[in-house]
Amino acid sequence: MKTPSPTPVSPVHAPHIPLTDYYKTEEDRQAYLRQIFDNTAEDYDRIEAMLAWGTGPNYRRQALVRAGLTKGMKVLDVGVGTGLVAAQECMLTGDPALVTGIDPSPGMMAASKLPKTMVLIEGRAESLPFPDNHFDFLSMGYALRHIGDLTVAFTEFERVLKPGGRLCILEITQAKSHFGRWLLKGYMRGLIPLITAFISKQKDTATIWRYFWDSIEACVPPAQVIDTLNAAGLTQVKRHLSIGIFSEYQAIKDDQSR
Ligand SMILES: C[S@@+](CC[C@H](N)C(=O)[O-])C[C@H]1O[C@@H](n2cnc3c(N)ncnc32)[C@H](O)[C@@H]1O
Repeated sequence: MKTPSPTPVSPVHAPHIPLTDYYKTEEDRQAYLRQIFDNTAEDYDRIEAMLAWGTGPNYRRQALVRAGLTKGMKVLDVGVGTGLVAAQECMLTGDPALVTGIDPSPGMMAASKLPKTMVLIEGRAESLPFPDNHFDFLSMGYALRHIGDLTVAFTEFERVLKPGGRLCILEITQAKSHFGRWLLKGYMRGLIPLITAFISKQKDTATIWRYFWDSIEACVPPAQVIDTLNAAGLTQVKRHLSIGIFSEYQAIKDDQSR
């Protein structure tokens, strides 16, 4: 009997199908996200700390080190938001002036408490306003599900990285077991929005945490993210998984390229 070949995977564009309970079209999606991130920015750090039981900064730092971030590197953090990844990069590089953050939500960036010498720019992953071969390290924390086109964004990441430059993408992915999925869904879509409704300053905060779960549930599987990174020309693409749900996609730009 022939062994069935593994299910073929291919590079993807949209990270998930449209979530029409929240928006109707791609244009609506971008406007919806910008507005809801702007509206809920001042609650983000508090709720995120609750979700991660305060391990967020530590986990982000370790993930960056695992992906190869070292002192003196020139860094771009895509989807910088309130700067939870970038703050660790400012410390690890030893100089905040080496770190640039980019995000489409001015509200999220305005809520950040980052060193003044760090550069913050309004923009999107799909169109990075930087020259080719510019950064030693590129990170993106928990923004993958919000990108309009992963193929376009990853091609941009490859372009702005220097040859030999390193990539680290952090994302929450579904647990393998039914019980793990049930637990995470209950926590993120049930408990967190419920608590949030009482302690948040903004009424949209409960909605955004429900949205986060729905986009995690609908997101393309890790194998397709890996395929899309490979198709964008990145090399040594790997996924490191912590406690079954925290995925780190690591990759390197070929040092022979260009
Ligand atoms: C969940 S927050 C993550 C913030 C931060 N990186 C962290 O680790 O906590 C996701 C961020 O992605 C940003 N975002 C949404 N669409 C984006 C896009 N197309 N390109 C870059 N960032 C985007 C949002 O504005 C938001 O600030």
